[in-house]
Amino acid sequence: MVKEDSTYIKKGDRVWTPIVVAKDMVAWFKPQGKILEPCNGIGNISNLIPDCLTCEITEGTDFLEWTEKVDWIITNPPYSIFSKIIKHGLTVSDNSVWLLPTWKMFSGYGLMLKVKEHGGIKHMRHYGTGTKLGWSPLANSISAVHIQRDYTGDISQSYFNWQSETNKD
Ligand SMILES: C[S@@+](CC[C@H](N)C(=O)[O-])C[C@H]1O[C@@H](n2cnc3c(N)ncnc32)[C@H](O)[C@@H]1O
Repeated sequence: MVKEDSTYIKKGDRVWTPIVVAKDMVAWFKPQGKILEPCNGIGNISNLIPDCLTCEITEGTDFLEWTEKVDWIITNPPYSIFSKIIKHGLTVSDNSVWLLPTWKMFSGYGLMLKVKEHGGIKHMRHYGTGTKLGWSPLANSISAVHIQRDYTGDISQSYFNWQSETNKD
């Protein structure tokens, strides 16, 4: 653990979304209206979204105290408290996108029930292993999971193509 601004943060919670993945998440999910990055880090996602609202605990704003309703949340949450963060996110958003190890979304039945009460998972976009994202060594599959209020349809899936996407720039 590292001590930052009187708050103990687990080291594993301070990893950043690679810019190429952040760009793809914003382009793919197209968040609109009032948008919040609740666990902002150094802003790799929020910097791509004009007028994006942000929280970052090391800068004094705790998302768990956020109560304002938003249209979209888009983030890569701190993994040590991801379930608490997602559950809270569902209470303040209509749409939310969470980048995390894929299995974590289904690792606790309590979280699955909260998602069901809210609506459902609409889409999962898969980005490869944690190692591919630079969070090495991490063999876990990493996905961006879109949860939508009142959604009752099937879950669709897509796969990010690193080769074609990283040759664009
Ligand atoms: C995995 S990092 C991801 C940062 C950023 N979302 C990104 O995609 O690059 C998670 C961030 O959440 C912050 N954090 C942890 N707990 C928080 C809380 N309760 N409220 C707001 N930010 C929090 C951590 O300090 C860290 O910067």
